[in-house]
Amino acid sequence: MATESRIGVDIPRIDAVGKVTGETFYPSDFDMDGQLWMKIRFSDRVHARITRLDTSKASALPGVVRIFTAADVPVNEYGLVIYDQPVLCGPGSDKVGADIVRCLMDQVAVVVAETPEIAAQAAQLIEVEYEDLPIVTDPEAAISPDAPQLHPDTPNNIIKHYRIRKGDVESAWQEADVIIEGVYETGHQEHAYLQPEAGLGYIDEQGRITVVVAGQWVHEDQEQICHALNLPPERVRVIYPAVGGAFGGREDMSVQIVLALAAWKLERPVKIIWSREESILYHHKRHPVRVYTRWGAKRNGEIVAVEATVYGDGGAYNYTSNKVMGNAHLMVTGPYVIPNAKIDTYAVYTNNIPAGAFRGFGGPQGAFVAETQMNRLAEALNIDPVELRLRNVIDENSLMTVSTPPPPGVSIREVIESCALSSGHWQPSANGWQMSIIEQPSDPTKRRGIGIACAFKNIGYSFGFPEQSWATVELHGTTEIESVVVRAAGAEVGQGAHTVFVQMAAEAVGVPIEKVRLLTHDTAETRTSGSSSASRMTFMAGNAIKGAAALALQKWKDEDRPAIATYQYRPPRTTTLDPETGKGTPNFAYGYVAEVAEVEVDIETGLVEVLRVICANDVGKAINRRLIEGQVEGGVVQGQGYALMEKLVVKDGRILNPYFSTYLIPTVYDVPHEVKSIILEYPIEIGPWGVRGMAEMPFMPIAPAIAAAIHNATGVWITKLPMTPEVVVQALRAQGVGEIG
Ligand code: MOS
Repeated sequence: MATESRIGVDIPRIDAVGKVTGETFYPSDFDMDGQLWMKIRFSDRVHARITRLDTSKASALPGVVRIFTAADVPVNEYGLVIYDQPVLCGPGSDKVGADIVRCLMDQVAVVVAETPEIAAQAAQLIEVEYEDLPIVTDPEAAISPDAPQLHPDTPNNIIKHYRIRKGDVESAWQEADVIIEGVYETGHQEHAYLQPEAGLGYIDEQGRITVVVAGQWVHEDQEQICHALNLPPERVRVIYPAVGGAFGGREDMSVQIVLALAAWKLERPVKIIWSREESILYHHKRHPVRVYTRWGAKRNGEIVAVEATVYGDGGAYNYTSNKVMGNAHLMVTGPYVIPNAKIDTYAVYTNNIPAGAFRGFGGPQGAFVAETQMNRLAEALNIDPVELRLRNVIDENSLMTVSTPPPPGVSIREVIESCALSSGHWQPSANGWQMSIIEQPSDPTKRRGIGIACAFKNIGYSFGFPEQSWATVELHGTTEIESVVVRAAGAEVGQGAHTVFVQMAAEAVGVPIEKVRLLTHDTAETRTSGSSSASRMTFMAGNAIKGAAALALQKWKDEDRPAIATYQYRPPRTTTLDPETGKGTPNFAYGYVAEVAEVEVDIETGLVEVLRVICANDVGKAINRRLIEGQVEGGVVQGQGYALMEKLVVKDGRILNPYFSTYLIPTVYDVPHEVKSIILEYPIEIGPWGVRGMAEMPFMPIAPAIAAAIHNATGVWITKLPMTPEVVVQALRAQGVGEIG
């Protein structure tokens, strides 16, 4: 048996060559003989009842094969958590309320034709008549009893209201020497993955309705298709080829159900490719939030109380809003001991585009608030921001706002210290940590500054949601193990999951990496692994692979040939939060991260250049350091876009800039000159080899770190994202900074 280590080494990605040479197939690259093309007709209205849907002109167009409407969907409902969205909106379906469109991304009809051009033309020929309904697009307005009601069984449009009632906030304010109040607003964010939605539906050689698509969880896509089409799982197969990025944006369905419907009814291959404009218009976004908060602390820096009210704009359907806002609820107080807390968080329906999963899952919004409040408190108390954090961070014995301790393995103190020290801008001293003064450029229109922020984020599903992952390990050979086949469904969305699966399997079995072959991304070949989300895949799949390998090795010893074992890993249970007090155990593991940002602000134009980011991230155990660095650099740049550039303009429920020419994401000219990754390894006992997750961590504190750096440079606090040049200039001028003449 080989003895060299297979984990903690930077092997090249197993999918690298094909992706670099272009040989790898993505969903839009598949073609089949006799295939037809699909085009979706979306809603034209933000909120309206469809009174008439006439497909006759469209059907008469030569080359049109079939048009599907609401009446064709057996169980006309969709939703990852709540079945609140019709698959197709319009008359003729049993689903109550399916004749109403509630946002512009509702799908109204599906055209299948001989060519994509004919399908597109026919989609426009479908006549839809609407009776407009009143709209509401602000979550605070939406919870008013007079607001239009989007879903009859959801009073006041409140999908979910979370509470925290811990200690006695009212009397705690008396103990506070300093109170900082703030109103924070964040915007929508578009996932901007490289590959727009696409797929191919067909009947496979065993008669299964098969959908080739990109997503984050093959078995969940299968389940949603089966629910809507009222079919048993063995009739439906979902396969992912390469996935061109996801970031949470592929958790919900886009083309899956309608492709399966068309392939099923027509028994011919059917293909669809969304344009970039369709992708931006018709998949969900990161939640915009508005937060009203106040934090009180004693002169010595000890936080005594936090109050916050958080409104999250969930858009017209839940998607994962109830869970996302749960995370915002936990993270809006940061990784700190808060003895007295009163938090109310609302996930609210509006007629905007649905909001859902996006890297950090509500956490970044919470962290922007918590960390900016901490930095403002530090200024008001005249205590260094690192020092203030270290005086308040949680440890294993602390009670979090949910009135229970965090899971074992709390490393936030070490993470902050390491980040501060590695940045070169902080030093510990007898009087505590102290930040150095940053040198200013000679150009008087430029100001430099540094800022720090930190965060925690759950690994795996929260709030009692069932959490598990399956893997199968097959050991082939006679006297020695000649090859290992691993079956694990977990999605490779570009993060390197499959490479670390192979590394972990090789390590667990004790063979060289080259002997391991991975079967994945196919419901017909694997059992469910859960989604590639919540920073969970290395942790969950690692535990499953490790468990299956141990069982297979035992069978090998018992002379089974091949030795095959299947194992389901289940982490410690989590719970929902008490509806009145918020008490509970929402998570089984956390990751911890801290970031320092160095920026240069042009005080004439408001343009903020990010010079350097230092990211310290406790990953538990690094399986592949280079892949972790890739995640850090990607997360930092994506977070930089969120913080400074990415402004989705949404007016009355309509996205006005669904193009990369007007929705600006960072390019190579914008990215930081340097991103320094500090990979810390404080293992957790339940992690495979000590692994925690890490994929969302680098995104979490970047916006508040940049906001703090802008303040350090200019003296101005900005509490609204994105901090575009326009926003920065207005804030500067309001303080009399950068006045010309
Ligand atoms: Mo991710 S936001 O947990 O898909």
